[in-house]
Amino acid sequence: MARQFFVGGNFKMNGDIKKIKEIVQHLNEAKLDDNVEVVISPPTLYLLLAREHLRSGLEVAAQNVFDKPDGAFTGEISVKQLQDSGITWTILGHSERRVILQEQDIFVASKTKAALDGGLGVILCCGESLEEREQNKTIEVVTRQLKAVADKISDWSKVVIAYEPIWAIGTGKVATTEQAQEVHAAIREWLKKEVSSEAAEKTRILYGGSVTEKNSGELAKQPDIDGFLVGGASLKPAFVEIINSKS
Ligand code: G3P
Repeated sequence: MARQFFVGGNFKMNGDIKKIKEIVQHLNEAKLDDNVEVVISPPTLYLLLAREHLRSGLEVAAQNVFDKPDGAFTGEISVKQLQDSGITWTILGHSERRVILQEQDIFVASKTKAALDGGLGVILCCGESLEEREQNKTIEVVTRQLKAVADKISDWSKVVIAYEPIWAIGTGKVATTEQAQEVHAAIREWLKKEVSSEAAEKTRILYGGSVTEKNSGELAKQPDIDGFLVGGASLKPAFVEIINSKS
């Protein structure tokens, strides 16, 4: 079956009101392949601004969410507050949060469950470090990260997995099509074995890590690459070409 192509733009901690408005306006005016599901993820402060001005049909994602419904959790935001703001997705488990903020697999899993239970879609990130790849531990690491989530949830229909090798994030060293396809196929095989054939068949698996308009076309041709989670290039006008890379 054909899985709908999905392109996410992770702005990370970049942009200001002027820049976010410029990006949104560019997307609003662009000719986009309407077979592609597009979700942009500005910093939390600008989620409402993006939602208010973005054309219908494109969605907005938070870059993180907490796993408790409300309460004394300074600095955190809840699933309900995102839903209240018309935000329909969240990124979770990004390597920058796993490494810099030391977010553990179990916490990512708990947040994934809370987000899904609250009706959000989840872009669930996984990926190995350069050292882990050099030690041939890539599949072990990625499946360990995914298993923590599988232990908490049973319905994967609103989960999009983003495989993001840490050594490719922000480095310009994009994974080769063979490297990316190999891990994506292994993730799909793991889904089939550990979750269900349906989840394996239907779950989109995105590639992230130095995706640009120059390499997205070749990557998009791979059978198990169902889209991208784009960082730096999502802040540039060429993000439109990445969205249209299947056209
Ligand atoms: O979440 C996407 C991000 O980690 C990839 O970043 O700048 O390498 O596209 P970048």
